[in-house]
Amino acid sequence: MELQTKAAVLYAAGKPFEITDINVVPPGEGEVLVRMAAAGICGSDEAVRTGKRPHAMPVVCGHEGAGFVEALGEGVARLNRGDFVILNWQPACGTCAVCGRGQPNLCTTFPERVTKPEARFFLKDGSPVFSYSHLGCFAQRVTVRQECCVVVDKKIPPEVSCLIGCAVTTGVGAVLNTARVKAGESVAIFGMGGVGLSIVMGGKLAGAESIIAVDTAMAKKKMALELGATDFFQEGAKVRNVDYAFDAVGSPEVVRKCLDAVRPGGTVVCVGLPAMSAEYSLPAWKLVVGEKKIIGSLYGSADPFQFFSRLVDFYLEGKLPLDRLISKTYTLEEINAGFEALRSGRTGRGVIRF
Ligand SMILES: NC(=O)c1ccc[n+]([C@@H]2O[C@H](COP(=O)([O-])OP(=O)(O)OC[C@H]3O[C@@H](n4cnc5c(N)ncnc54)[C@H](O)[C@@H]3O)[C@@H](O)[C@H]2O)c1
Ligand SMILES: [Zn+2]
Ligand SMILES: [Zn+2]
Repeated sequence: MELQTKAAVLYAAGKPFEITDINVVPPGEGEVLVRMAAAGICGSDEAVRTGKRPHAMPVVCGHEGAGFVEALGEGVARLNRGDFVILNWQPACGTCAVCGRGQPNLCTTFPERVTKPEARFFLKDGSPVFSYSHLGCFAQRVTVRQECCVVVDKKIPPEVSCLIGCAVTTGVGAVLNTARVKAGESVAIFGMGGVGLSIVMGGKLAGAESIIAVDTAMAKKKMALELGATDFFQEGAKVRNVDYAFDAVGSPEVVRKCLDAVRPGGTVVCVGLPAMSAEYSLPAWKLVVGEKKIIGSLYGSADPFQFFSRLVDFYLEGKLPLDRLISKTYTLEEINAGFEALRSGRTGRGVIRF
């Protein structure tokens, strides 16, 4: 059986996406078919598009999505047709030692999956099309593992809910789960994309007293201040003595600035994904005599099966204005304009609405 779908296919790094009619594999054992409702445009997709993060091609990008379960494969017990799900790009096995420690975001089966990309789509001539992050949300229909599907309350609009699939979990989770920022503390955030703006919202939710936003693009100032930043700087050199500094850019130079920005005993949280070959050059002396800490944060150190619903509740209770993160919605056909907006540095999150 072949299932048809329209998808934005990336045939080679550096090229635009091409809207193509392709086939999606029917759901096999433990898998489900999801009809996409909305998908966000994330900096990680742009890294694949540009080739900063090399990937097997052609590929359907998109790893920040939400949709409705359309069909169930064999052995799927905890999902039903019609369920509204936010897609989780970090499916965990639930059985490895790391999962056993309660850290499914670090599941040891996952790195192996990343280096072995899967083809869940096929061109009409039968040649494979890979799915980024084992999802491929820039397609009308996707076949994914049941572990990728987190059922949430249908009251949250799809274009808002999809953001929880990456930016919001990553950003708010970095504050609440990784750093565990407490009321009255101070934070600085470098990079005001969807992830950095979510860190701003997380800082406000945690009750941080001072939330300093930094971005090279002045256009980000208004949105950062609206979402809870107390200050905005175009250049981070002046930021000093904060309890936590977050890199939401993914650059060793920014991590260095974060190290200068934190007080003695403060913590740098690395959230942005650097190039896979990147290395840090840091002042070793300052690290030791200042007792500074540098920690990584993957997917907000979260268990999506608990955290997604918590974030939905925060939104529905008016504690997280996630809708204000969206600067524009696009049709799938307009996807290249959405990526152009991301590159321009002028906008918050762009969302594809199916
Ligand atoms: N750790 C994780 O689990 C995780 C999850 C999702 C995304 N990411 C990564 O987070 C990063 C941000 O993602 P995004 O979707 O928000 O990207 P984005 O492209 O929307 O935003 C990046 C922002 O950084 C700004 N910027 C660039 N250079 C800067 C500098 N030197 N100083 C200050 N600001 C600068 C840009 O103007 C832009 O506003 C990416 O590297 C992405 O791959 C990590
Ligand atoms: Zn992402
Ligand atoms: Zn595991």
